[in-house]
Amino acid sequence: MIGKLNHVAIAVPDLEAATAVYRDTLGARVSPPQAEPDHGVTVVFVELPNTKVELLEPLGEASPIAAFLEKNTAGGIHHMCFEVADIASARDRLVGEGARVLGSGEPKIGAHGKPVVFLHPKDFCGTLVELEQV
Ligand code: CO
Repeated sequence: MIGKLNHVAIAVPDLEAATAVYRDTLGARVSPPQAEPDHGVTVVFVELPNTKVELLEPLGEASPIAAFLEKNTAGGIHHMCFEVADIASARDRLVGEGARVLGSGEPKIGAHGKPVVFLHPKDFCGTLVELEQV
C-alpha cells in the first residue's frame, strides 16, 4: 500500500543552525524557511535526489514538536512520511487493522498542500508515521 518515502522530518531547536549543517557541511540544497502556523512549525526542505529531509522548528505556544524537543534537546528524527495513492482508503484499511490515527482521523492539508494523516508511533515500531496522498 505505501509507496515512496516522501520525507524524513527532523525536529530541531535552531532552524538556522540546522540549515547551516545541511547546506554548508553536507552540501545540500535547502529551501527558505516556511512558517506553518496551522501545524505549529517552521520548516525548511532539504532537497535530495531521491527524497527530502524536512527540518522542523517549533512555532507558537502549542507546537506539537515542543514536547519532543524537551526530551531530545539536540533534535532528532520526528517522523517519516510515506506516499499513498488514496488517503481515505489507506486510513480505512489501517483502522481496520487496528492502527490508531491521530487527531480526528480526518485528513488535514499538510506542508505540501496535500492531504495527510498521522499514525500512532506505538503501532508502527516506535516511529510516528505520516501518510501523504500524492
Ligand atoms: Co511531514
